[in-house]
Amino acid sequence: MKKRIGILTGGGDCPGLNAVIRGVVKGAELKRGWEVVGVEDGFDGLLAPEKCRLLSLEDVRGILPRGGTILGTTNRGNPFSYPVVKNGKKELVDLSGQVVANINKLGIEALIVVGGEGSLKIAQELMEKGVNIVGVPKTIDNDLMETDVTFGFNTALETATDALDKLHTTAESHHRVMILEVMGRYAGWIALESGIAGGADIILIPEIPFDIERICRSVDDRRSKGRHFSIIVAAEGAYPDAGTRVVQATAAETLSVERLGGIGDSIARRIAGCLDMDIRVTVLGHLQRGGSPSTFDRCLGSRFGIKALELVEQKDYGKMVCLKGRAISAVPIEKAVRKLKLVDPAGEMVRCAEQLGITFGR
Ligand code: F6P
Repeated sequence: MKKRIGILTGGGDCPGLNAVIRGVVKGAELKRGWEVVGVEDGFDGLLAPEKCRLLSLEDVRGILPRGGTILGTTNRGNPFSYPVVKNGKKELVDLSGQVVANINKLGIEALIVVGGEGSLKIAQELMEKGVNIVGVPKTIDNDLMETDVTFGFNTALETATDALDKLHTTAESHHRVMILEVMGRYAGWIALESGIAGGADIILIPEIPFDIERICRSVDDRRSKGRHFSIIVAAEGAYPDAGTRVVQATAAETLSVERLGGIGDSIARRIAGCLDMDIRVTVLGHLQRGGSPSTFDRCLGSRFGIKALELVEQKDYGKMVCLKGRAISAVPIEKAVRKLKLVDPAGEMVRCAEQLGITFGR
């Protein structure tokens, strides 16, 4: 009997997931003679065994440059707190026992979970129920602790920087204030790094609550120096010092996680009160999650996939693969999900941006 392992992709998709899947399937089949079961649609697939299928080399041929995930994913459906309709009412039930039973029934010795903070927390809980788990960190938000970077982030940054480059030319022609709203949940990494790379004038991130008057003053200062346009990049989780985050749907409404979005419009409305200028908002949205992965993300995803196999081989479970400096290594999943990795408001990158003349509205 061949050794059989499983792989699933959970949470929001991001570029580079297919590189991990390909790496795992190739490394398992070519070098180890193992079988890989691909689980569709994240942990949901473990509640419906027909969603689990053996992956062959043929299945992963040509997927390296493809965005998304050939396995499908979902950012709902935590099996420990699964939404079901009972007597016409939605309620949350614990289906984790079913997941564990199906993993055993499928003969999966170890499960590779490719996910962000939410999926890795679920993976950790399954580990505590006896499942052999190895984690692989993915997310465009780059908000996972214990790894210098997650794959997907680099491609998202390229998309955001490209958007800023494009907004620059039209902002300058029309003497406008252009606001670009980017993703990132509660972390400002995408806004900060794309803002530096794309030459933004103002960067607003959740880690530094902003003051609307300072934003207006900064735009006005530029105007008085003959710069008749300004570029603002706002992270979706940014909020004013005397206010709260703009939320599209609460966790109670989604029966999952809070959905952010709308800070761009909110800032536009508020600065319209103190600036006599044309203001336009662009919400970059899911463009940041789509498209072909960058060279960096293809390479990182492939390296993570192979490292995950090595951990399974060594039966070194409960670990998440990670990048530290230039080296791939591993850390306990438990450590990686304890808290989110946020931008340090007094850190080098923020100080660098400030010395480049960028303001954070503080
Ligand atoms: O975590 C990735 C992410 O893209 C966040 O940046 C964003 O807040 C969220 O997912 C969007 O989720 P959805 O795909 O449910 O709109």
